[in-house]
Formats: sequence, structure tokens, C-alpha cells
Amino acid sequence: MRINPIGVFDSGVGGTSIWKEIHALLPNENTIYLADSTNAPYGTKDANTIIDLSIKNTEYLLNRGCKVIVVACNTATTNAISLLRNRYKIPFIGIEPSIKPAALQTKTNTIGILATKGTLSSALFSKTSSIYASNIKVVEQDGNGIVELIESGKLFSNDMILLLKAYLKPMIAANIDYLVLGCTHYPYLMPLLLELLPKHIKIIDSGEAVARQTKAVLDKLDLLNLGLIKAKNEFYTNGSPGVLKSLLGENFTVEYLDF
Ligand code: DGL
Repeated sequence: MRINPIGVFDSGVGGTSIWKEIHALLPNENTIYLADSTNAPYGTKDANTIIDLSIKNTEYLLNRGCKVIVVACNTATTNAISLLRNRYKIPFIGIEPSIKPAALQTKTNTIGILATKGTLSSALFSKTSSIYASNIKVVEQDGNGIVELIESGKLFSNDMILLLKAYLKPMIAANIDYLVLGCTHYPYLMPLLLELLPKHIKIIDSGEAVARQTKAVLDKLDLLNLGLIKAKNEFYTNGSPGVLKSLLGENFTVEYLDF
């Protein structure tokens, strides 16, 4: 079981931002990444559809013998992870917007959250917000359109800059000092965000924390790969292999898969 792969899925290419953190921390692990790009974005879909898609992705990764599954999508985590955990025996690691550290550190008592509609409207997100952010102002912004642009290879485009300017404006006006990135596609916006945001605003995302949690779970269950054989990293998409590959670089191969 130790040599079995870590399964990672997302609605599309964004979860590679999480996969990169996992790979950096756990280079001995075999991994299988599944990009459900043909069904992206998840964020505009209703909870039942997000659950059905998450089950479909999970079943593929289970059939491939994954020892643990990382739900590298805030929208799928906040809408489907409790159901997945009840339904399947293996451990699931999810990702949620990092409200807690932002709420603890804000000096202006105001933080911004950029996430999908599906994440912002989920019961899990409201629960986490009410626990950690009830005493501060939270400016929520639905990042409608961002995932679609990234999925179509328009990460650094004029359309993206226009969208981001519109989404950041109310947050800057409200005097946020922390911006929480609540979608795994958004770390790829970092160069643009650094340009568009005033310098004092700090940006937080949860990628590293997810990698540390993955390591902790594997360690606890004695499932860490000892690395006796060179690790294999497989990437599958039911969308455009080119877009996925553009985020991974030359060292990795991407295969089209109809799942
Ligand atoms: N990467 C997904 C997330 O973290 C994007 C959701 C979507 O497809 O709308 O929420």
C-alpha cells in the first residue's frame, strides 16, 4: 500500500497548484492527477451536481488503487467531502479557504475572500466563517469567469486583468489587509494580483497546508512511500492537455482521458 499513488482531483487545471506543493514536500510519492476540465467550472453548479462529479472522479482514482485522495478543489471540498468521507474507506484531504490565519492576523479587521459561488454558498464555508470571522468584516467576492479564462489558456490576458480589477476594487475600498484565495486555480494569478493590489495587502492560500496535512495523514497511517523506486507522476484531463501541460512544464506528460 505504501507504493500506491496519491490521487489528486480538481474541476480542472487549478489543482496542479496543490499537486506542486505535494510533490515538493513528498517527492517519493507516486501521484495521479485528474483534471475534470470538461465539467469546469464546478463553482457555478448546484451542490448535487458537484457531489456527483466528485464521486465520479473519486471512483476513477479508487479504481487506480490510490491510497489517499486529495480533493484539490475548494468547491468540491466544501460541497462534497463529508459525503465522500462517509461513503469511502480511504482518507480524503480537502482544501478550504484559509479564513482562520487571515482573521487572526488582520489589523484593519477586514479581510477579502475571492472564491467560487459554490464555495461561498456552501454550508461548510459559512460554518468556518462563523467560527473564525464573526468579529471581523469579510468582503466576499465570487470570482465568476476566472476559472473559465484559465481553463481556456487565457491566464495572462486583458480579459483577466479587467475581471480582477473589478473584483479587487470593492475589497481595496473596504480596506482589507489580507486577501484569501479560495480556489485552487487562483495561485496562478499571483503575478497579476501582486501588480494590481496595494503592497500592504497580503495574499494567503492553503496549498502548503494541504501538502503538510497529506504528509501527516500518510505518516500516521504508515503509508509514506519509502522511495525505493523512482516516483511516477501521471496527469489526465478530459479537456485540453495543452493547457494542463502549460502549467506543469516540460518535465511532465499529460494524457487525454475520457472519464
Ligand atoms: N479549483 C476549483 C476550486 O478550488 C475551481 C472551481 C470551479 O471549477 O469553479 O474551487
